[in-house]
Amino acid sequence: MYQLNIKEASDFITSKIKQQPSVGLILGSGLGVLADEIEQETTIPYTDIPHFPESTVSGHKGQLVIGELEGRQVIAMQGRFHYYEGYDMKQVTFPVRVMKELGVETLFVTNAAGGINETFKPGNLMIISDHINNMGDSPLIGPNDEELGPRFPDMSEAYDRDLIKHAHQSAERLNLQVQQGVYVGNTGPAYETGAEVRMLRTMGGDAVGMSTVPEVMVANHAGIRVLGISCISNMAAGILDQPLTHDEVIETTAQVREDFLGFVKDMLKTLPA
Ligand code: HPA
Repeated sequence: MYQLNIKEASDFITSKIKQQPSVGLILGSGLGVLADEIEQETTIPYTDIPHFPESTVSGHKGQLVIGELEGRQVIAMQGRFHYYEGYDMKQVTFPVRVMKELGVETLFVTNAAGGINETFKPGNLMIISDHINNMGDSPLIGPNDEELGPRFPDMSEAYDRDLIKHAHQSAERLNLQVQQGVYVGNTGPAYETGAEVRMLRTMGGDAVGMSTVPEVMVANHAGIRVLGISCISNMAAGILDQPLTHDEVIETTAQVREDFLGFVKDMLKTLPA
């Protein structure tokens, strides 16, 4: 059933596009503008695609943009599905399965995240070196379909080492100061308490957000290599003496838009085939 749904969604998308995408882009809160730069594009609202859930959060558009960016055939999610919206893990990660079916081999996953590491500043970009699944759930629970991936997938290099190196090289070329660190995936939708942020720091987290982990787990299961980029939109709760708001998250991501766009575009342009 699941495989059939993936195939139907993929066939529908294939019927609308001329070229097969090889790079997937999942664009987080405030970062969807990157999709506006895709050329010769086909735009498909999620609501048109068989078996796709609908996106509900403000700041998220809810459509696939497929076309060419920096000479690459890409498929971008402008807006993603979050666990906190009430979707289950299989729904959250369904688009990654569809990307795999469409031929995607490399996935760039982006998000807005709160900085846990006190050396970080809002507006920093962080290359994700690893993650901690703190969601208490997994998209891989349930009967395993061996055609989609192994029962017990390796997660020791969830974020591809060569892509991390590649990202650092891009940052250097652009003279862009970037951070690197561990992303903690929480369910949300509440932001953390100060005590929780201190706990996450003790656990080894550098940034915290409400996405990414499920998609990255499924990408690894499916044999897609992953690069993750967090935009540190705010310092996590309890670090600065001020409340957190979604508006602040959107504002900061808007401020680093140009850095973010330049960074991702350079990485695409120089990505080894
Ligand atoms: N916590 C969790 N998710 C987030 C944050 C945060 O501080 N900022 C942006 N997404």
